[in-house]
Amino acid sequence: MTTLQVLAVASEIYPLIKTGGLADVVGALPAALAQEDVAVRTLVPGYPSVLAALKPAKTVMTIGDSFGAPARVLAGTAAGMEILALDAAHLFDRPGNPYSGPDGLDWPDNQRRFAALSRAAADVALGAVKGYRPDVVHAHDWQAGLTFAYMNFAQGRRPGTVMTIHNLAFQGQFSAAFFPMLGLPPQAFSLAGVEYYGGVGYLKAGLHYADRVTTVSPGYAAEIRTPEEGMGFDGLLRDRSATMSGILNGIDTEAWNPQTDPHLAMQYSKASMGRRAVNKAALQSQLGLDQDPEAPLFGVVTRLSWQKGMDLLVANVPTLLGQGAQLAVLGAGEPGLEAGFRAAAASNPGRVGCVIGYDEALAHRVLAASDAVLVPSRFEPCGLTQLYALRYGTVPVVARVGGLSDTVIDANPAAMGRGVATGVQFAPVTYEMMRVAIERSVALYRQPAVWKKLQSNGMASDVSWRDPARRYAALFRELVPAG
Ligand code: ADP
Ligand code: GLC
Repeated sequence: MTTLQVLAVASEIYPLIKTGGLADVVGALPAALAQEDVAVRTLVPGYPSVLAALKPAKTVMTIGDSFGAPARVLAGTAAGMEILALDAAHLFDRPGNPYSGPDGLDWPDNQRRFAALSRAAADVALGAVKGYRPDVVHAHDWQAGLTFAYMNFAQGRRPGTVMTIHNLAFQGQFSAAFFPMLGLPPQAFSLAGVEYYGGVGYLKAGLHYADRVTTVSPGYAAEIRTPEEGMGFDGLLRDRSATMSGILNGIDTEAWNPQTDPHLAMQYSKASMGRRAVNKAALQSQLGLDQDPEAPLFGVVTRLSWQKGMDLLVANVPTLLGQGAQLAVLGAGEPGLEAGFRAAAASNPGRVGCVIGYDEALAHRVLAASDAVLVPSRFEPCGLTQLYALRYGTVPVVARVGGLSDTVIDANPAAMGRGVATGVQFAPVTYEMMRVAIERSVALYRQPAVWKKLQSNGMASDVSWRDPARRYAALFRELVPAG
């Protein structure tokens, strides 16, 4: 088998730049795919943190006018990955996160910033970097969506193309007034092109032009072809059914390994679960919770947003307290939810603790210290925290949606009877059903043998990248002509 060359295109890559699971996935795929004889180079925007990490940062392509000023593509390695960075200071040398400034507002020129990324990606895909000819281009989310539109109208040998949807809620939808700026031919502005509900749709473009469409779980792949969950894309995605699939995410089982995790107060394994108590006590102390080893401790690590159902959790704080439970929240996001958790912590000292902010090390500690992790998402393309929870012997209590329903086996009588349950699911995603799920979870927790079984089943689940990487590799190889 010859090594397949894949050019990945994305706006985030862990550990260089991250706002959510997209970065984790883009950062994990290169190493996982290397095991399948697939060599990945990832093109990302030249944010300050990316350029600072890139060695040796050799110029491999120059661009006379990248949407307003000259730019170049730099090549090198960073964090063990082969990176191409679009060095365009006028677009990417800014504080804040990849999409918004320190004031939390989206940059007003995002349409330009990610068109520039996609334009550069198309040029690299078609051979603009000397000595580099990718076999397949793998675009992630709307920020990379226009890549395939640019490739479609260019001359030359076209690599295979795969568009992966990480979250259909983020669509990259802009006014039609921007179309002329993109430098695409007029005929691209049509239903069979980049036009979407009268505007320019970046994700729409990717979904339309890609040879294959994937999303990050089979469950979400099915949901988004329905009018209820398709967010306007269900028709297009139903048309693409024959070329669409769901491939579950994995997690980095080295970085997330309770036996070696340097962030924990005490490492542990399936054989030494008693040591988890040390982590629980340490987190209780860090978050100002009562030192109560018996209280079921529910943890949450998340963006605080409507998607994640966090308003339902705020409403269910009394349920948790009524069950004698404690709650530990690590999250940042919508100001109303941040205020809601701050208020819950202030009025329930010793029982509710929250840290508003983004903290990678604390995320590990919450996952390792909690008895259960709550993921009450209204929709969830895959979700990673329930996978971390499984690996850490922390029981996931999740909404029965998307990737959550694919990765957690509910402790119903049938699954318990067969000894395969790993957590608790609830549906529909309402305050009431979440309340019932919390009560069920506490009842299970109070039966130590049953709880232990859930924990050990979870720890035995394969949440690694091995199987997903095989699936991606097989999909990529389908797109490459034999010989
Ligand atoms: P999404 O990408 O929709 O936010 P995922 O579950 O796929 O959801 O991925 C979220 C990722 O971000 C996980 O790696 C999670 O640990 C991390 N994360 C989310 N919020 C925080 C936070 N406040 N501090 C640290 N890590 C966080
Ligand atoms: C998105 C989704 C999340 C998924 C992640 C990585 O941010 O919201 O469910 O796990 O992408 O694919």
